[in-house]
Order: sequence, then C-alpha cells, then structure tokens
Amino acid sequence: MHYFDYFPQAIDHKRLTELHQQKQRWVNQQKKGFLRYRQPYEYLQKFSADHIDCTADTITIGTAEEVDTHQQEEIRKQLKAFMPWRKGPFSVFGVDVDAEWRSERKWNRLKTKLPDLNGKIIADIGCNNGYYMFKMMPFQPRFILGFEPSVQHYYCFKSLNAMAGFDNLTIDLLGVEHLSLFPESFDLIFLMGIIYHRISPVELLKDLYAALKPGGSLIVESQAIPGTEPLALFPEKTYAKVPGTYFVPTGTALKNWLLRAGFSSVDLFCSHPMSEEEQRPTEWMVFESFSDYIDPANPEKTVEGYPAPWRVFLSATRL
Ligand SMILES: C[S@@+](CC[C@H](N)C(=O)[O-])C[C@H]1O[C@@H](n2cnc3c(N)ncnc32)[C@H](O)[C@@H]1O
Repeated sequence: MHYFDYFPQAIDHKRLTELHQQKQRWVNQQKKGFLRYRQPYEYLQKFSADHIDCTADTITIGTAEEVDTHQQEEIRKQLKAFMPWRKGPFSVFGVDVDAEWRSERKWNRLKTKLPDLNGKIIADIGCNNGYYMFKMMPFQPRFILGFEPSVQHYYCFKSLNAMAGFDNLTIDLLGVEHLSLFPESFDLIFLMGIIYHRISPVELLKDLYAALKPGGSLIVESQAIPGTEPLALFPEKTYAKVPGTYFVPTGTALKNWLLRAGFSSVDLFCSHPMSEEEQRPTEWMVFESFSDYIDPANPEKTVEGYPAPWRVFLSATRL
C-alpha cells in the first residue's frame, strides 16, 4: 500500500506522484551529499528490533542484548553519521543518543492537550528524525506522514523506523509549501518549530486550515517573545543567531493569527522561557547551542539585543 492511499480521492494523485518521484530521483543520486546519509541507512535498515518502547521519555528501539558487541559499535558509528542529532533522546540497541534538545519535555507539555489519536490520519510538519511521530505510536494512530525536506533527517528517520518496523509511519521529502496537495486530508496536524521561519505566517496557517478535515485539529508550537501584547518581533538579520527567522510573535499575536486564518477554539495552553537545560551541546551535537545565543551579561536578551526566546503552545480547530 502506498501512503497516498490513506488520502481522499480528492487529492491530486498525479501531481503528488510526480513530486514524489522527482524527490526520489533527486535523493537517489550517487553524490557525496546523499551517500553520506544513505549508506548509514542501508547498513542500519538490516536490523530489526524485538523490543520497542515509545512510552518512556527515551524512545527505545532494540536492546543491547539483541546484538553483539561488534554490531553495537557499528550501529553507534553509523548513527553518528547523522550528527548533529537535534531531537531525542533515543536508545538504539543499547546505544544512547543524547540529542541537543530534550524533546521529551516538549512532548510532556503538549500530550495532555492532544485529541484522541486513535485511528487518526496525522501530519507532522518538519518532523526532523521523527521523535514525536514515535511518541504518538502508543496512541494507535491510523497513519502519520512526516514532512521533512532535509536529506539528513529523512535518512535518520528512515533508519530509526526501519529498525522499529512501524508500517503506519512514513516520511517524505516535502515541505510546508506542499500542503496544498493535501486538501481536507488530516485529522490532526502538528506544526512545531516552523512558523517563525515562514515569511507569511498567516498564509501558512490558512494552508494548514485547508489541509485539515472539517473538525480536525492543529497543534502549533513556536519560538516566541515574552509578553501578552499582540506583537511580533521582526529581526534585522538573525534572532538568537538563527538566520531565516521572520516573525517571532507573542502567544497573543499567534492566537490572533490563528483566529484570522479561520480557526476556532484557539487555546494558548502553555508558554515558558527557553533554557540551556532543554537545549545544550552533547556528544551527539557538538556545535553551539542555547547558551551561545544569549547575552552573557543579560540572560533576558539574545546576543543581538532582542528579548530572549520563549516557547508557546496553542491548539485550534477547523470547524
Ligand atoms: C526547528 S526544527 C523543528 C523540529 C520539530 N518539529 C520540533 O518541534 O522539534 C525545524 C524542522 O523543519 C524542517 N524544515 C526545514 N524547512 C522546512 C519546510 N520548508 N517545511 C517543513 N519543514 C522544514 C527542518 O529540516 C527541521 O527538521
């Protein structure tokens, strides 16, 4: 069964097939930039885990007892090919992958606000290595599609899921810009860590609205500035050293964007300051991290002098 079959007849199968095939031709080129991730995937996909646990903070795919010492060392080496690991933690056949982000903290903040996932068709936009897709599995969704244009994250997810063996999880090399190919297709969409990278955030929210089935839900999580005024910061070049950042809203501004895009029951259910406890360098991510983005003389400011980042979480419904 191809993943397109999970979607209504109304979707343009021909256009989606063409795009999918074009992306596959691109990613299957014999070029260094692809092979550096495809070869580790080809090695790792040979392993099939007996023990899988997505209920704990650390996602476990296989235990140390399922492989020998030589295989475990090789698994570690191949997993390192996907560095820097941004999302985790994972434990893969006894190899502990401590990623830059403690992603379980984000999941624990939003899990009690989720609608029932049982039997649902779900999209995770910018799914990275699929940490949150794996976290959804205990709730028995029918199918989850991860949109992820990065080749590194694409093969990292494919490796993890080949070992985990969930046949109702798929990733494709798609971006938010492809949402229009999926009219009224999803019961639930996650948009986390994405909206401040978009030049037209309200247009994006309208695209999400159109991709939801009537009655469907959206979970949005975003970097934010502190405060309750309906304002958004627009950095001159970077925000917390991150280029490609456009509008960084307060929770209130994001709520207003959702309302203006047509959503109902908009609920700003969590906001908190970001911290180096949650985002930090590790053995699996050796580059700069949160503390390098903040003014050392004033933790309330970024290095550019902007208000230091918060995170906000909102849920919303399409009527
Ligand atoms: C800040 S990370 C957020 C990851 C994850 N959703 C989370 O909340 O932890 C942004 C992710 O979006 C992906 N991305 C980049 N461009 C994208 C696009 N045009 N559409 C969807 N995702 C994109 C990146 O590769 C990366 O995995």
